[in-house]
Amino acid sequence: MRYKTQSVAYWYFALAMILFGLQMVFGLLSAAKYLGPDPLLNVMAFDVTKTIHTNLLIVWVLTGFMGATYWIVADESRTELYSAKLAYIQLILWAIMGVTAVIGYFFGYGTGNKLLEQPLPHKIAIVVCMLIFLYNIGMTIKKSGRFTTTEGVLLLGLASSAVLYLPALLHYENYVVSIYYRWWTIHLWVEGVWEMIQGAFLAYLLIRLSGADREVLEKWLYVIVGLVFIAGILGTAHHYYWVGVPAYWLPLGGFFSALEPVALVGMAMYAYFSIRRSGVRHPNVLALHWTIGSAVFTLFGAGLLGLAHTFPDINKWTHGTLITAMHGHAAFYGAYVMIILAVITYAMPTMTRNRPEEGSSIGYWAFWLQIAGMFGMTLSFATAGIGQVYLERVLGIGYLDVQLKIQVHFLMLVATASLFVVGVGLFIWDFFRHAPILNGAAGNGQGQPAGGAHHSAAPPLHDSRYANQRSS
Ligand code: HEM
Ligand code: HEM
Ligand SMILES: [Fe+2]
Repeated sequence: MRYKTQSVAYWYFALAMILFGLQMVFGLLSAAKYLGPDPLLNVMAFDVTKTIHTNLLIVWVLTGFMGATYWIVADESRTELYSAKLAYIQLILWAIMGVTAVIGYFFGYGTGNKLLEQPLPHKIAIVVCMLIFLYNIGMTIKKSGRFTTTEGVLLLGLASSAVLYLPALLHYENYVVSIYYRWWTIHLWVEGVWEMIQGAFLAYLLIRLSGADREVLEKWLYVIVGLVFIAGILGTAHHYYWVGVPAYWLPLGGFFSALEPVALVGMAMYAYFSIRRSGVRHPNVLALHWTIGSAVFTLFGAGLLGLAHTFPDINKWTHGTLITAMHGHAAFYGAYVMIILAVITYAMPTMTRNRPEEGSSIGYWAFWLQIAGMFGMTLSFATAGIGQVYLERVLGIGYLDVQLKIQVHFLMLVATASLFVVGVGLFIWDFFRHAPILNGAAGNGQGQPAGGAHHSAAPPLHDSRYANQRSS
């Protein structure tokens, strides 16, 4: 940690970890309901547990994005944050918003618009938090006068995410209109502007971890982000099949969304070759696992499994089935969960005491158990989904009869999800077992001072973490 105020990131990450843990509880509860009689039916039915599961996901991923941004912007702009106090106020408001929203869902207090169920006051709180956040980040960069391409892409992704949340503030009586605009937020987030955020985190980590040149990495970042944009914007139309909008969206959605995986192939190659060509320049090999893992798992979950149901002739059968859940889990995990865990793994050794920089065996168990668990969960949803589509949509058997026939896949889901949850538990344990360094720039966790703010222009080159600083 080079700058004292970077420690605000720790508290964002800590909140993200707690919410991640809670998200798992509600995921397991949702899955258990597929297995038979539900003793909790009158306390919290499936719609409640699923809403909480997915909303916790959105809130913790955004918390992770914010923490990672506070960390990265200070580092990239080589300065203290504009206001740590503002960052803490924002965090408290954000936490209150997240927790009260979850409590509200228990009582059916929400707008019922999938993934955007937050009630209006909560939505307004989200906007206020985003404005504080963007102001703080913007002022930090302005103060320092150093603005890198990586930061530019990151900021563009974050600011666009805020703008694209605005359609979610409006309420439409007509369901077709409502669903039409819902995708402006959801699709353009996950398949557009959030990919800029992921791309920027990826570039930041690769610049620090590999020996590759900043210039080369940032040039490719532009290309990838450009590709995502071109394909992702009109790719929105892959959600416009048979929902009441004109039929010309069908070929448009099929064609442009099929181009999206091209950008994701580019992203995975980008990560792989920057390490292959330039080697590893940093001891934190665990963070490298998460970084490359994110690019590769995104290609699998979003690229391959997204493509699997993106053409109108296939989506006609698979829409809204467990095939969607198969893709939703693998894509979200690879693209957004893993990249946040990568930034956390990279940042933690300098923010906490005695955490080995190269990672611990607990850290590696967390990584591999999560990968194996999520792969198994994806297969479980896939096999359940294929059965569901065939029995329900091709043969026309009733929904609940089909659910009984595919129950066995949910046993596999619970088994593989349990592996995954052990991996998550280990990551969270590994996060909290080292006490944070609260008095600021205290170095690498071994008690040595880091290059604090006064060293900002020229970080100490004997420190392995800054070995490639000359090019950065
Ligand atoms: C990082 C990227 C991605 C993430 C996090 C993601 C996540 C999701 C989620 C959560 C859903 C369910 C949304 C809902 O029903 O409310 C969904 C739906 C869908 N995604 Fe993705 N996705 C990503 C990329 C892609 C890509 C690249 C493609 C195509 C090549 C794709 C194709 C689809 C399709 C066709 C649906 C609609 C499924 C249905 O009709 O039920 N996704 N995605
Ligand atoms: C303990 C682990 C988990 C279990 C058991 C679990 C289980 C479930 C279940 C049963 C559903 C409802 C599917 C349906 O609508 O029928 C669901 C939905 C969802 N979960 Fe999970 N989940 C887990 C972890 C995760 C993780 C780590 C993520 C993010 C990476 C995630 C993201 C989602 C999303 C986006 C949906 C909505 C999918 C859709 O639109 O179809 N879950 N989960
Ligand atoms: Fe989409």
